[in-house]
Amino acid sequence: MRGRACGQAALDHPGRPAHNDLMMNDARRYAPSAARNRDAILKALTPYLPNYGRVLEVASGSGEHTMHFAAAHPRLMFQPSDPDPDGRASTDAWTRHLGLTNVEPAIELDVTQGSTPAIKADVVICINMIHIAPWSAIVGLMRSAAILLPPDGLLYLYGPYRRTGEHTAPSNAAFDADLKARNPAWGVRDLEAVVKLAADQCFSAPDIEAMPANNLSLFFRRH
Ligand SMILES: C[S@@+](CC[C@H](N)C(=O)[O-])C[C@H]1O[C@@H](n2cnc3c(N)ncnc32)[C@H](O)[C@@H]1O
Repeated sequence: MRGRACGQAALDHPGRPAHNDLMMNDARRYAPSAARNRDAILKALTPYLPNYGRVLEVASGSGEHTMHFAAAHPRLMFQPSDPDPDGRASTDAWTRHLGLTNVEPAIELDVTQGSTPAIKADVVICINMIHIAPWSAIVGLMRSAAILLPPDGLLYLYGPYRRTGEHTAPSNAAFDADLKARNPAWGVRDLEAVVKLAADQCFSAPDIEAMPANNLSLFFRRH
């Protein structure tokens, strides 16, 4: 690894998702990026979480974030999801391995497909997805979150962003170039464009927290 956090770990494996980094001898996957950023994300996220309720994670990948957050918040019920069957198998294997009773089986959810899962959610979280998917995925994520969340429900996003048209670090610029070389529809998103889209979908202006390795946490509330 090159000392990058979160989705930037994908730089080490062009053409493959970060969560393929290391396979265990069962369905569980291990994403070094998740191990690096999960404590910082949990610390940032915790003050915004309700005491009780249901948390939908979009793009759970290996499932390690779900496990970490569910272990720390046993009164919340977590619903992981991902379009990738191997990711869902990993998540379910982690749930079994850890014996967590507040994690539902992972569901198939591709937010570009326009359908919203028939579940309840008080919180929607999405970590390191919107730069490694087409813009339609962000649109679908916001639309689904707007449908699922009650008034004041939380939408949490984590990842790298450009601000006022500029990258916030040379490493983010290099990561953006790498993403676009892999898929022209991918790339580090403009914070202002994401905030505008959220506003169009009935979300408040976000609280913004700077995170390690030039990432941001964005906390949106449903109107
Ligand atoms: C870089 S991985 C991040 C995984 C995990 N959140 C993490 O931070 O370790 C990106 C994830 O986005 C998922 N993904 C890509 N396109 C998606 C879409 N249209 N809808 C939902 N998830 C998507 C991939 O399957 C993958 O698990």
